[in-house]
Amino acid sequence: MTLPKLSDATAAQFAKAYGRAPQWIAAAPGRVNVIGEHTDYNDGFVLPMAIERYTVIAAAPSAGGSPRVRLRSTGNKGEPAVVDLTQPMQPFPKGAWANYPAGVLAGFLARGISPGGFDALIHSTVPTGGGLSSSAALEVATATLIEAITGRTLDPVEKALLCQQAEHQYAGVPCGIMDQFISVMGRKDHLLLLDCRSRKPELVAMSDPSVALLITNTNVKHELGSGEYAKRRAQCEAGARILGVSSLRDATSASLQQAKARMEDVIFRRARHVISEIERTPQAARRLEASDWSGAGQLMYASHASLRDDYQVSCAELDAVVEIARALGEPGGVYGCRMTGGGFGGCTVALVKTNAVAALSKKISAEYKRKTGIEATIFVSRPAAGATVLKAKV
Ligand code: GLA
Repeated sequence: MTLPKLSDATAAQFAKAYGRAPQWIAAAPGRVNVIGEHTDYNDGFVLPMAIERYTVIAAAPSAGGSPRVRLRSTGNKGEPAVVDLTQPMQPFPKGAWANYPAGVLAGFLARGISPGGFDALIHSTVPTGGGLSSSAALEVATATLIEAITGRTLDPVEKALLCQQAEHQYAGVPCGIMDQFISVMGRKDHLLLLDCRSRKPELVAMSDPSVALLITNTNVKHELGSGEYAKRRAQCEAGARILGVSSLRDATSASLQQAKARMEDVIFRRARHVISEIERTPQAARRLEASDWSGAGQLMYASHASLRDDYQVSCAELDAVVEIARALGEPGGVYGCRMTGGGFGGCTVALVKTNAVAALSKKISAEYKRKTGIEATIFVSRPAAGATVLKAKV
């Protein structure tokens, strides 16, 4: 569904839920990360793009000026939630979907920016638990809505950081900055090479119509809250401490080899993934810029192997899709494929020939079904623009 249609559909849902028309509508996209996985919280590089899947929020002032924020979602776990603005903000019980918008609201209130009471309806086409940043899309859409309501626009980096903070403090996931950043700053027809240390983004054109990014959802739910993510993060910090650097960004393969005897094997392997992935990411950006699709594809396969073997965040279903894609290879239209996002399920991303998309989708889903018994969901997306206000009160 196009964004204007999605916006109209959300407005209609709002009217159904609250019996009046919305005054504001804001949207933020999900993302797919082409390469640079588990590098953002190590001060490294990432190369994501925003996708044409969005979280849209429609809102109107509370009836009678009540200082109360009512949140509803059309999603299947969308029990309504209420925030009373006269009380100090605090998280909902762990796992509640409303923690994402509530955390963002808390961030604005902490900066002295209050939207006052409002009713909101959330509708999303970003699959949840698919590793496509449905949570960041919800956070950034909320922040964009509050900007529209208050007329106070934050600096884009501050906005992304506020949303990341919401995820840390309200959803309890110690995520990096990639997802919120790309959801705020995505550009049509571009990937974003982000240096997570300087937070300087570099646009990488991705507009050649002969190649496409094919996203395959294994439909195995990815669960970042399970503690594995936090464990990886702690292992990276332990590795950096042993290497005497403030983050793994400052380590090299050579310094890691020298320290091998001084660290547990698991820490060594986690660090080896991060250090090699930080090297691969700008290389992949340069290869994509030079239309060296095969070269970029090789780096994607290398990234997957490293995430599977050293970082251990893949799973049998993700590996199955990558193996199917690799077997089809360039003659079948695939340059490269890897898991994308946090891991433990979710999606793969493949760099493919556009004219092979239809045939590939059929072959991958048939073979994946045969191997795992699961129906995959496959789609392509052009790089999309970041968060936007679709309707504002005049
Ligand atoms: C999740 C996090 C990101 C990033 C990726 C792994 O999506 O939210 O910050 O760490 O995992 O690359």
